[in-house]
Amino acid sequence: MLIKIPSSSTLKTSDITDESVYIQRRQLVKSMGFLGAGALLGSAISHKANAGFFDSKDADASFKTTALNYKADKDNLSLIRTPEQKVISHNNFYEFGAQKNQPAELSQNFKVNPWQLTISGECENPITLDYDDLTTMFALEERIYRLRCVEAWSMVVPWIGFSLAELLKKVAPNSSAKYVLFETLFDPEQMPGQSNRRLGGGIAYPYVEGLRIDEAMNPLTLMSVGLYGKTLPPQNGAPIRLVVPWKYGFKSIKSIVSIKLVREQPQTTWNKLASNEYGFYANVNPAHDHPRWSQASERRITSGGLFAKNRIETLPFNGYGEQVAHMYKNMDLSKYY
Ligand code: MTE
Repeated sequence: MLIKIPSSSTLKTSDITDESVYIQRRQLVKSMGFLGAGALLGSAISHKANAGFFDSKDADASFKTTALNYKADKDNLSLIRTPEQKVISHNNFYEFGAQKNQPAELSQNFKVNPWQLTISGECENPITLDYDDLTTMFALEERIYRLRCVEAWSMVVPWIGFSLAELLKKVAPNSSAKYVLFETLFDPEQMPGQSNRRLGGGIAYPYVEGLRIDEAMNPLTLMSVGLYGKTLPPQNGAPIRLVVPWKYGFKSIKSIVSIKLVREQPQTTWNKLASNEYGFYANVNPAHDHPRWSQASERRITSGGLFAKNRIETLPFNGYGEQVAHMYKNMDLSKYY
């Protein structure tokens, strides 16, 4: 697959705003022959849903979240949370459009109940969970994690969920289970980006992601069903998504319908699209730049707006090195990026 790298590859860290990175990512898609039509479409879409779709007075506010019972995160209370309104209105969910505002606008009629999540493959007890199981089968806990996008912005989100390890223990992986493959729902009628290649950024759907089995079993790896005390809104991956805090955000796959234990390293969406830019491991690594921009620092998304000066240094493994670095101790992380 021929991928044209735009000449803006010489950008310095100081030149990068999350918007410029975003534009460059779209350049990649464009250079592959799919002009993202978000710009065209964006003008035709109302922007009001972003501001208040939890407000029942808003006609577009068809999606309702529900309060959850969970154990609060006492470890990470010192992390400054990103305002909820930012977390639910600045999204990457290409199934609902490749522009940051589109998922919140185009996903409000997304049906998450009934839902089925199947866990299968190399295991003793494959199971299928339904919608209610997702919030009742495991004790829910809050985890305040930083989400670091490969586009060099970050947010701090109070997720609610349970460790993926708890779920995998239930199905009893066998000794051939070396990797875990995750798949998002494929439903082009509900997810317009899946049938409109322009809207969906030219990605081949369904969106797929993968982890090595030890990464999947790491206690930090979260299956999230909520944020800010409530069930997930659709734009954040309702009814269940992955959150892998030491990896770039694209590993944290949304609206999952299948988790499969497999023998071989699976293909993953962004890696298939541009393997020189998006690795399978995708561990946050300030020492390994993206070919077209630096990863040494990141822009915090705050209530100050997208262009507020709020740049912080990026930490190895996004600050979670103590818990995860041992899994990579014999690996050359510039090769396995
Ligand atoms: N999952 C699916 N199915 N489709 C996507 O486009 N985008 C990923 C990830 N999961 C994506 C996805 C990317 S690039 C990021 S940064 C995070 O979701 C963003 O999560 P958020 O919108 O909740 O901040």
